[in-house]
This record gives sequence, C-alpha cells and structure tokens, in this order.
Amino acid sequence: MQKFIFFFAVGAWAVTQGTAEEDYVEIWPPNPMVEFGGSLDLNCTSTCEHIGIESAYTKVPIGNGSNWKAFRLSNVNFWAAGTLCYAECKTGQKKSPKANIIIYKSPEIIELDPVPKMEVDKPYKLTCQVFGVAPIRNLTVTLMKGDEQLLIKTFENYTQTRADAVVVNHTIIAQEDDYNKTITCQTSLDLRPRGPLLKNTSQGISLWTFDFAKAPLLHAGLFLEAGTPMKMTCDAPEVSPAREATFGLWFAGKPLTSNTTVMEGLASAQAVIASSSVGEHELFCMVSLGPVTKNVTKMVNVFALPNLMLQIGSSEAVVNQTVNITCSAGGSASPGFKMQITDAGKTLATGKVDERFLQHAVIAQQEDNEREFICQVILIVDGHTKKRNISQNLTVFYRPQIDDSKCPHALTWKEGSTTSFTCSALGNPTPTVQCWKDGRPYNIGEPQLVQREHGGIYHCNATNQYGFDVRDVTVHVEFYQPNILAITMGILAIAVIFLSLGGLVFYNNRKKCRIYHLWKQQQPQARRDTELLPCLNHTTNN
Ligand SMILES: *[C@@H]1O[C@H](CO)[C@@H](O)[C@H](O)[C@H]1NC(C)=O
Ligand SMILES: *[C@@H]1O[C@H](CO)[C@@H](O)[C@H](O)[C@H]1NC(C)=O
Ligand SMILES: *[C@@H]1O[C@H](CO)[C@@H](O)[C@H](O)[C@H]1NC(C)=O
Ligand SMILES: *[C@@H]1O[C@H](CO)[C@@H](O)[C@H](O)[C@H]1NC(C)=O
Ligand SMILES: *[C@@H]1O[C@H](CO)[C@@H](O)[C@H](O)[C@H]1NC(C)=O
Ligand SMILES: *[C@@H]1O[C@H](CO)[C@@H](O)[C@H](O)[C@H]1NC(C)=O
Ligand SMILES: *[C@@H]1O[C@H](CO)[C@@H](O)[C@H](O)[C@H]1NC(C)=O
Ligand SMILES: *[C@@H]1O[C@H](CO)[C@@H](O)[C@H](O)[C@H]1NC(C)=O
Ligand SMILES: *[C@@H]1O[C@H](CO)[C@@H](O)[C@H](O)[C@H]1NC(C)=O
Ligand SMILES: *[C@@H]1O[C@H](CO)[C@@H](O)[C@H](O)[C@H]1NC(C)=O
Ligand SMILES: *[C@@H]1O[C@H](CO)[C@@H](O)[C@H](O)[C@H]1NC(C)=O
Repeated sequence: MQKFIFFFAVGAWAVTQGTAEEDYVEIWPPNPMVEFGGSLDLNCTSTCEHIGIESAYTKVPIGNGSNWKAFRLSNVNFWAAGTLCYAECKTGQKKSPKANIIIYKSPEIIELDPVPKMEVDKPYKLTCQVFGVAPIRNLTVTLMKGDEQLLIKTFENYTQTRADAVVVNHTIIAQEDDYNKTITCQTSLDLRPRGPLLKNTSQGISLWTFDFAKAPLLHAGLFLEAGTPMKMTCDAPEVSPAREATFGLWFAGKPLTSNTTVMEGLASAQAVIASSSVGEHELFCMVSLGPVTKNVTKMVNVFALPNLMLQIGSSEAVVNQTVNITCSAGGSASPGFKMQITDAGKTLATGKVDERFLQHAVIAQQEDNEREFICQVILIVDGHTKKRNISQNLTVFYRPQIDDSKCPHALTWKEGSTTSFTCSALGNPTPTVQCWKDGRPYNIGEPQLVQREHGGIYHCNATNQYGFDVRDVTVHVEFYQPNILAITMGILAIAVIFLSLGGLVFYNNRKKCRIYHLWKQQQPQARRDTELLPCLNHTTNN
C-alpha cells in the first residue's frame, strides 16, 4: 500500500512535470457563432486520451482522429455558459478554456406603437419595440418615414448576449406633407464577417396629419324673415387635407342637410335655413378634421311681418265720392310693427305700434284716377328696417272734357296736303267723340287729301255714361292754285308784252324804209346810207 502511494505520487509528479510542457486540450473554434436553435460543430484537440466535451446542449460525436474528436451541438435554443473540451491526461483530467458561443437571433417581433391622428406643428412620439433579438450589441434600429431616415440607433455598449428587447423612441413634429406617409422600423443584425447580415422591417404605420388651426366662419344674414329660405355657408379656411373635413350644421337646434365643397385649402358647407318661429335662433356649425373639432355659432333674428290686406272701399268711384282705404294686417308678426298708407309720393296715414287696422278716407277726384295706394308695414329689428307693402289702384269715373291740346278750336290745313281731322276728349271711361259737318257725320281720324270743301265748322260731341262735352272746330283751308295761276298769268303777260314790242319794232322799220325810199329819191345823204344798210339791202333785193 505504501509502495502504491509512493508510486502514484512519483507518477503524478512525473506527469505533472511532463504535461506542463506537452499535454493540452483545446476547443475549436474558440468563439463559435450559431443561430438560435441551430447546431454547432466543435473540434476538441488534445494530446491526451478520452477526449470529451462538456456542454448543456445535445451533443453527438461526429468524427475522430488520433488527437481530436469533433462534436455536434444541436438545438442551441437557450443561453448556457460553460461549453468546454476535456481529456484524460497522465496527470489527470485536463479542461480546455470555455468556448465563447455566440447565439444570434433575428428579432421575433418588431413593433411600432400606433400613433394618433396628428395636428400639424405638434410633437408626437414614435416608439419601436424590438423583441427577442440577440446579440443586441450587433443590432441597429432605423426609423424610416417613407424613404427618409429619421433615426439610426446602435447598441455597441450592450454587454448582455442573451436575447432581449429594445425600445427606440423618437419625437417628430407633425408636418402637413406627412399625411399618408408610412413609418417603418428596420432592424439590422450585423454579424459579419463571421456571421450573416440579417435585416427585418416592421409593418408600416401611416401618419395622418391634419392642419386645422383657424376657426371656421359662418356666413349668414343676421335677419331672416319667417317662412322664407336663406342660404348660409360655413367655411373652414386653411385646412389640410380639406377634403377630409366633415361638417355638422344645426339651426334652432335642428340638424340641416348640407353640401360640402372643397377648394384648395378651403372646405365649405352650404345649407338653406328657414324658420317659422319668431325670435333669436342659433345657427351652429361644427367642423371636424382628424383629431380637431371646432365650432362656430351665430344668432339669426327671425322676424315676421304681418300679411297685409288693402281694400279700397269701392275700387271704382265717381268724382266727389268718399272712398275708404282700409289696410289690415293678419297672421303672425314680430311685435313693434307699424302700418302706413301712402301713395306714390307721401304718407297719408300712420297707425299705432302693433295696430292691425288702418283707414284713410279720400274724396275721389278726377286726378285720383289710376292713383296707386300703398299699404306698408314697417318693423325695426335690431336697428334694421324691414318693410312689406301691398298696393292697389283707384279708378275714378268722370264725364268727358274736350281738351284744347287734343281738340283745338281752330285748325288750318293746306290744300293738297294729306291730313286727318282728330278730336279726342278726357274722361273715364274714354269718351266716344262724334263730329258732324254740314249736318253729316264725319269720320274722325281718317287721312284725306285736303280740298277746299274741307274748310268749315265741325261740330263735335264727346260722350260717356257720365255726361258729354261739345266743341266746334273751325277748319280753314289755304289755297295754293290762285298763286300758281297768277305766276303763269304773269309769265304769259310778260310774253305778250315782248311779242307786242317785237311786232311794233318790225312795223316801224318797214315804215322807215318806205320813208327812205321816198326821201332818197329827193335828197341822198351818206350818213343815212350806213344807218339804213340792212334796209337798203332788203330793198335792193326787192
Ligand atoms: C479537428 O482538428 C484537427 C487538428 O487540427 C484536424 O486535423 C481535423 O481535421 C479537425 N476535424 C474536423 C472535423 O474539423
Ligand atoms: C473513432 O471512429 C471510429 C469510426 O469512425 C470508431 O470505430 C472508433 O470507435 C472511434 N474511436 C473512438 C475512441 O471514439
Ligand atoms: C426577420 O427575418 C427573418 C428571416 O430573415 C424571419 O425569420 C423573422 O421572422 C423576421 N422577423 C420578423 C419580426 O419579421
Ligand atoms: C395614401 O397613399 C396611397 C398611395 O400612396 C393611396 O393609394 C391612398 O389612397 C392614400 N390614402 C389616402 C387616404 O389618401
Ligand atoms: C346640394 O347640391 C345639389 C346639387 O348640386 C342641389 O340640388 C341641392 O339643392 C344642394 N343642397 C343644398 C342644401 O345646398
Ligand atoms: C364649441 O366650441 C367651444 C370652444 O370653442 C366649446 O367650449 C364647446 O363645448 C363647443 N360646443 C360643442 C357643442 O361642441
Ligand atoms: C264736386 O263737388 C264740388 C264742390 O262740392 C262741386 O263744385 C263739383 O261740381 C262737384 N263735381 C261733380 C262732378 O259733381
Ligand atoms: C268709411 O268708413 C267710415 C268709418 O269706418 C264709415 O262710417 C263710412 O260709412 C265708410 N264709407 C264708405 C263709403 O264705405
Ligand atoms: C314695395 O315692395 C317692393 C318689394 O316687395 C319694393 O320693391 C318697393 O320699393 C316697395 N315700395 C315701397 C313704396 O316701399
Ligand atoms: C297702378 O298704377 C300704376 C301706375 O300709376 C301701375 O304702375 C301699376 O301697375 C298699377 N297697379 C295695379 C295693381 O294695377
Ligand atoms: C251730345 O250727345 C249726347 C248723347 O248722345 C246728347 O245727349 C247731347 O244732346 C249731344 N249734344 C249736342 C250738343 O249734340
């Protein structure tokens, strides 16, 4: 026994001394990389015998040699430290250093937190969560807006090798043109040169950005007459995207149906309002665009003017008849109205406030025929005057009156001209005018060629059922023929005078020649010769 102990001690010493220089156990590769859940081959080399591997993973030998033994670790799906090679050396068991196994894992989940509908110019946080990725120190997370990189985040200082989750935050200021842009979260696990480059992209989320900074505007009249429709418009200016704006309109608490139109940055809704109830009513417009809802209200004063009835006692009167002009108001009316009876020019009667009956009497005169009477109701709503009126015309009957301008006392016509005899009279109804000349009825108004016989006195009588008026019209016809005769006679007279003068001269010459002949025979004279040469020639020819 002592001998054995001694031997063992000497042997152990000898082995220890020897292996210190010669025996080794190594693991290869020392820094292996394996995909999570995958398998890994390790080569144990040693100068010693009984090479083995110590590992928490499922392991099978896959080959051996004189100084090596290879193993396959499979299903590497958990993080375990302590994989090493060992061998039985002369000095005892010897172990290799632990292998530094890197298990890598593509992210299980990449998740972008949902974002709300955004208001332009306001900040919003984007959050990307990456779960189940390893090793994180090799991870790069990139946030993208369309093709634009918003943020690149790396984790070089991350020491843990186990799969873990990372969260990346980034704040953006919503912009108008971000509308319908897509945000994605991209991961890149770069294991090169020993491993692969693994890229993943999250599902995209869309940005919905809305610009609705300005308050909407209501365009509607301040006053509305009961029972009459009025157009109104609700505008949302400088909004984006305008087509997304939705409108809700109410009048006096009741919803209105509206039409929406969009014009580059302006959304507007049109509706028609009407009310039968008098008083102040609220017009309400609510506009929603994305996350923003704004409203605007306006008070509309609904007023009612009464219905008017105008009665002219007897719309047909005769001169000197008293005519009552009565105006009455019916139906619902806003308080404070006043009635008036006017004609085209002036106010004839004014009623008291809220009085629904007004009367004015006129004594019909000839000039009141066709006179227009107006009944008017006036209401002052918030300092604004609202009116309604109704009118009717009075007819006054009166006897004929022959008027100088339409039937003058005397007329002068020119013979040979074309003219017509006219004579008309005032009166209501329009009088019938009849004229007689020389006891015979004469056709008034017919064009005729004026002859001398047309001159004389015309007896005219204008009649209607209210009386008659008579007039004698004297027509004087101017003659033209006597003058022409006189001129012709004058010309004739001159011609006669000339002819007579010519005859006298001829006769005288003949007489002189005869005298000369007698005288020549007695006493010839040179002066006389020349003077009477034509006569001489004449006589010599004879
Ligand atoms: C293990 O290592 C030895 C020595 O380097 C080598 O000869 C052998 O081929 C390796 N085996 C495998 C399977 O790589
Ligand atoms: C070496 O491998 C051969 C077959 O390849 C096998 O028969 C032998 O048992 C192995 N030796 C050891 C020590 O595992
Ligand atoms: C990432 O990509 C790998 C393959 O490239 C895939 O197996 C894995 O499921 C992906 N992860 C996500 C979160 O899409
Ligand atoms: C968003 O953009 C896509 C294409 O870029 C388009 O098909 C889609 O209609 C857009 N959506 C809206 C609400 O504008
Ligand atoms: C809406 O538009 C239609 C057709 O353009 C028109 O007939 C209708 O009267 C409009 N309604 C309102 C409330 O303006
Ligand atoms: C309308 O807007 C005002 C603020 O401008 C708000 O106080 C009110 O509650 C809104 N009314 C409705 C009915 O939304
Ligand atoms: C109307 O009355 C006035 C005065 O009362 C009188 O002079 C006139 O003749 C009357 N006219 C008629 C057409 O009756
Ligand atoms: C006019 O009205 C007054 C009072 O309302 C009445 O006495 C008179 O008889 C009326 N006259 C006529 C012609 O209707
Ligand atoms: C009467 O009413 C009409 C419209 O209904 C208006 O044009 C006219 O000017 C009014 N007349 C008077 C005298 O007020
Ligand atoms: C009343 O007379 C005026 C002219 O004086 C005329 O313009 C108007 O049309 C008439 N009204 C009626 C209802 O006959
Ligand atoms: C004019 O006519 C009316 C009705 O026909 C008649 O009564 C009257 O006597 C006439 N006057 C003259 C002067 O002819």
